[in-house]
Amino acid sequence: MNIILIGFMGSGKSTMGIRLSYRMKQPYIDTDKYIERRAGRTISEIFESEGEEAFRRMETEALEALLADGTRDHVIATGGGMPVNEANHSLLKSLGVVVWLRITPESVLERLASDTARPLLQRPDREQVIRDLMEERAPLYAKCADVIVDVDGKRVERIMDEIFTKSRGVWKRKKRMRHE
Ligand code: S3P
Repeated sequence: MNIILIGFMGSGKSTMGIRLSYRMKQPYIDTDKYIERRAGRTISEIFESEGEEAFRRMETEALEALLADGTRDHVIATGGGMPVNEANHSLLKSLGVVVWLRITPESVLERLASDTARPLLQRPDREQVIRDLMEERAPLYAKCADVIVDVDGKRVERIMDEIFTKSRGVWKRKKRMRHE
């Protein structure tokens, strides 16, 4: 099965994705890196030269390409804005089990205090931006997610265990539904 990690910037999608991929012995894909490779530019450069909308289109194309390639048994970390385009919801769900790493704005602020790589956060009112985006996106993450794991104050091992056990249950259910 594919496990797809969604959630806000700084929620640990890449860290958890890499750890999970080791544990499950499944290859790891990061859609941000995938897009950067295909475009030959960094996310910041894409935002700067073509704008956010163009980047959102590239995110959809990345999911479509992963599906078209028949990507299976991977761990896939996505960018924090992946569920913003609602067309991506069904693409995400068809790819596998979608896990929302849920985090509070306070933790994001703390974790990303010195971040310079995320174009949306390079503003003096970073705290407000995080709160507004989080409010806007929480319902979208909820809509996409098969599984929710709260990450605040938890160790990596514990988060990994929760992702693992909860995803297995969902996977079995999804598989049964496909065969019925
Ligand atoms: C974004 C999140 C980033 C990256 C881009 C936009 C967002 O990924 O895709 O900067 O809109 O939340 P991470 O969630 O890995 O930081």
